[in-house]
Amino acid sequence: MTEKSFKGRTVLLTAGPTHEPIDPVRFIGNHSTGKMGYALAECFAQQGAKVILVSGPTNLHPQHEGITKVAVTTADQMFAAVQAEAKAADIWVFAAAVADYRPKTVAEKKIKKAGDELTIELVKNVDIAAALGKQKKANQFSVGFALETDNESANASEKLCKKNLDMIVLNSLNDAGAGFAHDTNKITIIEKDATHTFALKQKSEVAQDITKLILERIYG
Ligand code: CTP
Repeated sequence: MTEKSFKGRTVLLTAGPTHEPIDPVRFIGNHSTGKMGYALAECFAQQGAKVILVSGPTNLHPQHEGITKVAVTTADQMFAAVQAEAKAADIWVFAAAVADYRPKTVAEKKIKKAGDELTIELVKNVDIAAALGKQKKANQFSVGFALETDNESANASEKLCKKNLDMIVLNSLNDAGAGFAHDTNKITIIEKDATHTFALKQKSEVAQDITKLILERIYG
């Protein structure tokens, strides 16, 4: 029997944070470094996939020649890049920590210090995974991530359903060594009818666990 691989498959992957500008020198962002997403991109590419990596601002650079990076800054830009590639991709992985809100207006000039309080009005960003979930075809497979601090499993299962995902990778900020900036991660993968828990591992090994389960699912 030939070994299962991602040869001939295209993987569309989002990674990193998004930065939502406030003025020319400031933005709203988060602590995502992109490490988990980039580790996944390498892992898919090593197993033969063509990877389109839509990445928010990070200090990381893909190594494998099978990875094409599309650099974006904001959630809107990430959505546009994902929309352009989604139809042609077999597998979607949403590993980015997308800012849920952005400033309603972006000041043209630096906001000067004045008064004791400053209010910035925010408007909701597009939910990329959920929007894509609405156009997912039967032969496409989608994977989301959930970083939770409480009600972890219930919240992740709700996201699985709401965003029409096939699996969701849950990491809890309560686990030591898991989450942003660490080289390690401790995940639980939740599917509609199954839950898989894994030990604390290097992110490269976590990527192998995730891709292994995806392979099992797409080959049936
Ligand atoms: N996601 C996305 N676009 C957004 C927000 C989230 O594509 N605007 C994706 C993430 O990449 C991840 C999944 O949705 O795969 C869950 O992200 P998360 O931030 O945990 O969920 P939210 O729906 O934003 O819920 P909340 O922040 O309220 O927990």
